[in-house]
Amino acid sequence: MDRIRIVGGQPLHGTIPISGAKNATLPLMIASLLTDQTLILDNVPRLADVVQLQRILGNHGVDIMTSGKRPGDDEYKGQTMHLSATRIVDTTAPYELVSKMRASFWVIAPLVARMGEARVSMPGGCAIGTRPVDLLIMALERLSARIDVDGGYVVARAPDGLKGGEINFPKVTVSGTHTAVMAASLASGTTVIENAAREPEIADVADCLNKMGARISGAGTSRIVIEGVAKLHGAWHKVVPDRIETGTYAMAVAMSGGDVVLDGARPELLQSALDVLALAGAEVSATNQGIRIARNGAGLRPVEITTEPFPGFPTDLQAQLMALMTRAKGTSHITETIFENRFMHVQELARFGARIHLDGETATIEGVDRLKGAPVMATDLRASVSLVIAGLAAEGETMVNRVYHLDRGFERLEDKLARCGADIVRVSS
Ligand code: EPZ
Repeated sequence: MDRIRIVGGQPLHGTIPISGAKNATLPLMIASLLTDQTLILDNVPRLADVVQLQRILGNHGVDIMTSGKRPGDDEYKGQTMHLSATRIVDTTAPYELVSKMRASFWVIAPLVARMGEARVSMPGGCAIGTRPVDLLIMALERLSARIDVDGGYVVARAPDGLKGGEINFPKVTVSGTHTAVMAASLASGTTVIENAAREPEIADVADCLNKMGARISGAGTSRIVIEGVAKLHGAWHKVVPDRIETGTYAMAVAMSGGDVVLDGARPELLQSALDVLALAGAEVSATNQGIRIARNGAGLRPVEITTEPFPGFPTDLQAQLMALMTRAKGTSHITETIFENRFMHVQELARFGARIHLDGETATIEGVDRLKGAPVMATDLRASVSLVIAGLAAEGETMVNRVYHLDRGFERLEDKLARCGADIVRVSS
């Protein structure tokens, strides 16, 4: 199993290319099931989750072709993926596949919308929470699907097609909003979604669906209106840059010191996180190329944050910020409101000598002058990268175990950091 070895203390200088967003790529690939024509996605990141979803879509009959390198392409250029769901040969998503990646449950929406039936394994919980799918099911029922749960599978039926309706989410849910938008695109009549998620990935998927012939307005706001259409066609779409990858590298630079340009990043996709970084003492500026992050010599200041749905501070950057605050001059407080069990990194950060106290959904971090390298264990995608960030600033060697968690959501992480001067290598064993 691969591990990552880091020797801390190197400031970061240079440019880091930002990949396409994992959390846009997954629903965009799933949207290919909505049409019998070819959807071409550009700027697709090379991630384990993308490969896993290719297997799941292939099981439904989707042909997927990824273009080879073109003259002038560098090794960081995103992939171009052609997805053709000409014929859907199987409307069942089996447990063996869905249990490996939760977002694959979302295939239920295009399958029932286009084929009138879907049988999808319940995704189950994960390291960060129970993560029920009751709101996704509620949304499909609002679009007149009949839902049964049978032997660990959610069975959705709409033999006469879905019908537009009112969907009012009791809490903001990204997966619920994706499900509702995709399903309503092929429903007859109008659908209105209230209290919708406003994440940039929702707007990116809606933008792509509109290129495929859908009629969606208001994506990116809390009220989305969809006029259903009978059929969708093929399209070309470029995946939005990954705001979580952007925020992660920004935190890494603030932690190690240095001066880096995040190439292709878009500040408006993570403004709340950039504001917190500036409060903490990093220099943050937008450039023609993307975002420039620098910290030279100035100490880190403590912050108080609460994770919230977009445009609030993203839960997917909570662990990375906690790692940063372990070196702040003073006491910080971080409150996690989205997932009930998203502090698995606290015990691992303590191995570096960090001082973090948990009280319910709030972590109190007392900054220390120095961290010391240690062997640590990755537990989930974002927690694992917070250990890398701590290792970059810790004295001596850090060994991060179980890096397969990282590969799910970060493309070539150690290469991107090493090219900016970090002493980091992947160790295969
Ligand atoms: C998406 O998860 C992201 N995943 C997550 O990123 C991200 O943390 C999350 O949104 C919040 O921003 C992908 O896009 C693939 P939710 P999702 O539905 O859609 C509860 C990462 O690290 N809920 O907005 O599953 C749920 O349990 C991942 O890349 C219900 O109660 O999140 C959670 O507490 C981790 N019932 C809250 O709502 C439901 O039916 C928000 O969940 C659905 C959700």
